[in-house]
Amino acid sequence: MTVADTRFFAQGNVYLPHIAVIEKIVEETPGVRTFHFNLKDEKLREEFTFASGQFAQYSVLGVGEAPFCISSSPTRPDHLEFAVQKVGKVTNALHRLGVGSEIGFRGPYGNSFPLDYLKGKNLVFVGGGIGLAPLRSLIWNVLDNRDIYNKVDIVYGARTPVDLCFKYDLEAWDKDKTVNMVTTVDRGDDSWKGKVGVVPKILEEVAPSARESAAIVCGPPVMIRFTFPVLEKLGFAPEQMLTTLEKRMKCGIGKCGRCNIGNIYVCRDGPVFSYAQIKDFVSSEY
Ligand code: FES
Repeated sequence: MTVADTRFFAQGNVYLPHIAVIEKIVEETPGVRTFHFNLKDEKLREEFTFASGQFAQYSVLGVGEAPFCISSSPTRPDHLEFAVQKVGKVTNALHRLGVGSEIGFRGPYGNSFPLDYLKGKNLVFVGGGIGLAPLRSLIWNVLDNRDIYNKVDIVYGARTPVDLCFKYDLEAWDKDKTVNMVTTVDRGDDSWKGKVGVVPKILEEVAPSARESAAIVCGPPVMIRFTFPVLEKLGFAPEQMLTTLEKRMKCGIGKCGRCNIGNIYVCRDGPVFSYAQIKDFVSSEY
């Protein structure tokens, strides 16, 4: 796991962002876009490193700043990606940007998925909606180093077919013979030929073995809340279940106290946690 890399604090000021340039925008769903970008400064761009699971603060000049995970994989370093759901002032401003627009970027922050722990294990990825964003960073990381991991199951769902994010990834993983990809929707439509049912229910049907396995879960709070008991029923211990939490973060570095849940700071101690670490408050917060 890693923490914020101080080399990337602009001029030594932790709150001063670097300039990044939007290079491509992908319309994922009517309310979700993925932005491909690069740091403007060539030297910083070359030196920049991050790990799957880390997040950053992104800003629109004159509007404000918001945290999002880095949704691309460090194994594909020619650009970075983050996905944004249009829900508020900053996210609406980000959705108004075009290719070539400049944004502020500071990070990477937080810990990351524990690759050493995951090595050699069967991996079960469970995602819902835009919650696939942090998972896809790790999934591509795993698939780009396929030999060092065992079986890979992915169970991903959204409310309706239109709400499925990263459809190009879902197709690629579906074609990959080393991956068991299961996509589901809560409500189908006339064109939908896949599974219908909420993610925890479909996960129970898929019934991955807990033996030598780890489950990585990310999605809406209600999905997370109902997925952990299913995994427990399948024999997963709390230490074998990982998730990444989202909180309204401000400083991103454990200073402002905005992101605490119980006695942990999501920005500093997370955003990646095992269920063992958070199970005492997950039912009230999630
Ligand atoms: S965002 Fe400031 S302490 Fe976590």
